Amino acid sequence: NLMLSWQRTAYHFQPEKNWINIVTDEGVASSATFLASCEGIFGISYPNGPLYYNGWYHLFYQYNPDSAVWGNITWGHAVSTDLIHWLHLPLALQPDQWYDINGVWSGSATILPDGQIIMLYTADTYDFVQVQCLAYPANLSDPLLLKWDKCPSNPVLVPPPGIGSKDFRDPTTAWLSPDGDKWRITIGSKINTTGISLVYETKDFVKYELLDGYLNAVPGTGMWECIDFYPVSLSEVNGLDTSVNGPGIKHVMKASLDDDKNDYYSIGTYDPINNKWTADDPELDVGIGLRYDYGKYYASKTFYDQNKQRRILWGWIRETDAEELDILKGWNGVQSIPRTIVFDNKTGSNILQWPVDEIESLRSNSVEFNDVKLGPGSIIPLKVDSASQLDLVASFEIDKEALEAIDEAEIGYDCTTSGGAATRGVLGPFGIVVLADEALSELTPIYFYIAKGKNGKAETHFCSDGLRSSKASDVDKVVYGSKVPVLDGEKLTIRSLVDHSIIESFAQGGRTVITSRIYPTKAIEGAARVFLFNNATGISVTASVEIWKMGSADIRPFPTDQL
Ligand code: FRU
Repeated sequence: NLMLSWQRTAYHFQPEKNWINIVTDEGVASSATFLASCEGIFGISYPNGPLYYNGWYHLFYQYNPDSAVWGNITWGHAVSTDLIHWLHLPLALQPDQWYDINGVWSGSATILPDGQIIMLYTADTYDFVQVQCLAYPANLSDPLLLKWDKCPSNPVLVPPPGIGSKDFRDPTTAWLSPDGDKWRITIGSKINTTGISLVYETKDFVKYELLDGYLNAVPGTGMWECIDFYPVSLSEVNGLDTSVNGPGIKHVMKASLDDDKNDYYSIGTYDPINNKWTADDPELDVGIGLRYDYGKYYASKTFYDQNKQRRILWGWIRETDAEELDILKGWNGVQSIPRTIVFDNKTGSNILQWPVDEIESLRSNSVEFNDVKLGPGSIIPLKVDSASQLDLVASFEIDKEALEAIDEAEIGYDCTTSGGAATRGVLGPFGIVVLADEALSELTPIYFYIAKGKNGKAETHFCSDGLRSSKASDVDKVVYGSKVPVLDGEKLTIRSLVDHSIIESFAQGGRTVITSRIYPTKAIEGAARVFLFNNATGISVTASVEIWKMGSADIRPFPTDQL
């Protein structure tokens, strides 16, 4: 059990232990239930209705106060002034009405021009129908927005004709209609196996009209959960509020695919008159092309941060161990570090995700290793203390001969079906190894691998190899990854945030991102090490790395005398 406690993260948001101490079973049957009921048990899931209001960032999340597995879904609530340190607040929304008694599910916030806050969420009714409901803060002058009222007219939307009663969920943040007098939201669904996004128009968030057609529909992608839909600027570095449209703007659409539990996005153009969004590249439409993250990352949501004019993405990092272990650990699921999102105007084909600047306030004790030569087959230890909490930035330059060696390189590569960092090729793998023990009996390499594309040109793959990440059985050990665009003259770069059992890795400034959820048993605390490696057979690589120790976030309980 000691081993399990190492895995708790230090600067990723999680609900606290013993926050709500509900004993489920009297006359406890199994040791798992016993431990759980002693320690207080809980499950956390995905971010809901994030917003910035009156000096505070609010995070709501799908939360089971009774168990570390899914069920009895309520809205947990926490606030922060910097997105790093958090104060837990009492539950914001609980299932206590006929229309939400089976769960207060995912939803989104909209801040109206007059300051009113609208919270739309999906509720699961007493007879398991998915309906949409409206809630709002009971007291807008309370900066913590502690108390929420449900609208007496709930539910405000029920599944329309032709839509399954269990296929109608997760309203988005609203945006203004072209003439500016109505609000629009989109809600995910499916028709047979085609994922679709329905659009509704409303003036008051109580009465709605379903618009003709779908904002988008992609055959074979199944149920679309937690749709997100927002503008990005083609030229500005600032993020855009959700209603902004016009020249120089594209719209990103994201759906969480219920069938494969990944978040897919696509960049395209929004035509509000015809209620239609069209992918720039039909082969990269929602659900069949790009993902936010090629590791464990689901049910994410963005919001516009009017405080710093940026769009921020939150995601849910699920566990990859057995459910019994979650119950033993007493927790399940962590929030990713919030990421700023911008359009990548260098490639034009993807967004860039980057940890919010505030995370850098946890950095200390920087160490640098410059121009480290890595010949074929080398692995070099880096002297770093406390390597279980790190922020690491590495860049790699490939010696010139690589360009010639491309002719000998293999055609094509797929991180997920490769043998990981142990399998050698001509132009890869090379990169970093984190959460490794001294003897390399546990290790997670984060690496690049260059292969020949179908057109004969080099293509770069970015992978996170969990195959040897843990001695424990009953945990997933897989290689994640995908291609990453690299432009002429660019070095290859990795930034990794390491936090005990999570590694969030960003390649090329956030073009491709991978979150690994791993469970080391030896590479923990003071025993964790960092290495540089080059396992390619045909090239030498020169690496430079800067590594910071990361402090722990201050995540405080709500003072009980305030309850
Ligand atoms: C995403 C999801 C949402 C739903 C919620 C219920 O995993 O299924 O579609 O609103 O979880 O907890």
